[in-house]
Amino acid sequence: MKIKILPSPSAVAEAAAHLFVVAAADAIAARGEFTVALSGGSTPEALYRLLAEPDHAQQVDWSRVQVFFGDERCVPPDDERSNYGKARETLLDRVPLPPDNLHRIPGELPREECAAQYERDLAEHFGAEGIPRFDLILLGMGDDGHTASLFPGMPALDERSRRAVATNVPAYVKPNVPRVTLTFPVLDAGRVVAFLVTGKGKAARVAEVVGGSSPLPAARVNPVEGKLIWFLDEEAASQLER
Ligand code: 6PG
Repeated sequence: MKIKILPSPSAVAEAAAHLFVVAAADAIAARGEFTVALSGGSTPEALYRLLAEPDHAQQVDWSRVQVFFGDERCVPPDDERSNYGKARETLLDRVPLPPDNLHRIPGELPREECAAQYERDLAEHFGAEGIPRFDLILLGMGDDGHTASLFPGMPALDERSRRAVATNVPAYVKPNVPRVTLTFPVLDAGRVVAFLVTGKGKAARVAEVVGGSSPLPAARVNPVEGKLIWFLDEEAASQLER
């Protein structure tokens, strides 16, 4: 595990954008494509906007990039709560990503059908056997310690055979809509798994989750062979023992 503490949220976005560009170049050189699972939530917005700017966008061969999502809210793609919708607005509509390279989670479908459709898409791209191995998985962490849509106390935490599942969310979660999420086996198969967490509001949970033995979902992401990197700003890292 690597912990990178940056002075500000914009510095976190810069560091993550550099990781994205390097990971893409390495994957394309090694395997001819770069498979990435984007995170939802608000934190990665600065990263997506940065990646869409020419300085970074022109360093990525988008024709070789395959974009998936770590999770999605069960809402239509044009709903303001859609993770895909946010990524489209801030990144995907601003880079030359071929439409066939976009693998959104079809949140407009009933949740079980949505999960099954996404699993078919994953199997079509990564093969029906074995666990999909993403080159880069971007994750956030909620202040309850959830990541993707793996929430404390939910059955999805125990899923070890399916690649993606539908899940309800605890009553305190906003937006309080069902989700579809990648499961731990897929997150743990990532070649590079990068958390982006910023803000004082997350500091206590970061101190509990990062490097400790917390049972919370974000603490349970443990890449088997891949690299785990936590990108934190000073505020989110302020309660970490250093
Ligand atoms: C989602 C995300 C979720 C998010 C965390 C952190 O669908 O909301 O996948 O896991 O990463 O809740 O969200 P913020 O970045 O908005 O704090």
